[in-house]
Amino acid sequence: MKKPVNLSDAVTLINHGPTVLVSVDDPGLGKPNVFALAWITPVGFEPPALVMLVGAGNYSHKLISEAREFVVNIPNSSLVEKVDYCGNVSGRDVDKFKAAGLTAVPAQKVKAPLVGECIGHLECRVTETKPWGEDTLFFAEVVAASAEEGLFTDRWHIENPAARSIHHMGGHWYAVAASAVEVRNVGL
Ligand SMILES: Cc1cc2nc3c(=O)[nH]c(=O)nc-3n(C[C@H](O)[C@H](O)[C@H](O)COP(=O)(O)O)c2cc1C
Repeated sequence: MKKPVNLSDAVTLINHGPTVLVSVDDPGLGKPNVFALAWITPVGFEPPALVMLVGAGNYSHKLISEAREFVVNIPNSSLVEKVDYCGNVSGRDVDKFKAAGLTAVPAQKVKAPLVGECIGHLECRVTETKPWGEDTLFFAEVVAASAEEGLFTDRWHIENPAARSIHHMGGHWYAVAASAVEVRNVGL
């Protein structure tokens, strides 16, 4: 028996991709900014590409529009409180790196810094933008990527607690990835 879900809640049914911390350079203030982002998806392998939806009201929207570069940082579950914080206060008002105790580490290819505490990083350059209502879809090419040794090979080793990603479920609720299943010998 299924019950109807309000259309305003419908996309929350599929809102479980990894929640990330996006870091951006802020040359105006001479310090970087960082914010939480759940609405992000890969859109290509070669070249590696992704798209994310950024709200026009976010300070980072202005920074990404100007710099056309950013870093997607993958937090593990130990960072869930810092992620929630970075998703609920604005860099207009607070130095979030400082307030959340996060470390800005120089990236290889872009001016935006990595968030040192995160376990993986995708350095991105914007290739295209598309207005989406009042917000913006930012399409970007991944120009460098790195991940914590031992936690990522061709997949995240979430059997190790340090590799467990977080997945926004709405409000202040997050799921933590905790088991991996390999499918083989199914006779295909
Ligand atoms: C778990 C979580 C996921 C979020 N996902 C998005 C998102 O996909 N896109 C977006 O624009 N804002 C998202 N936000 C909201 C921004 O992180 C939030 O508005 C933040 O304060 C913006 O910071 P800024 O003003 O420093 O850029 C999310 C917030 C949380 C807590």
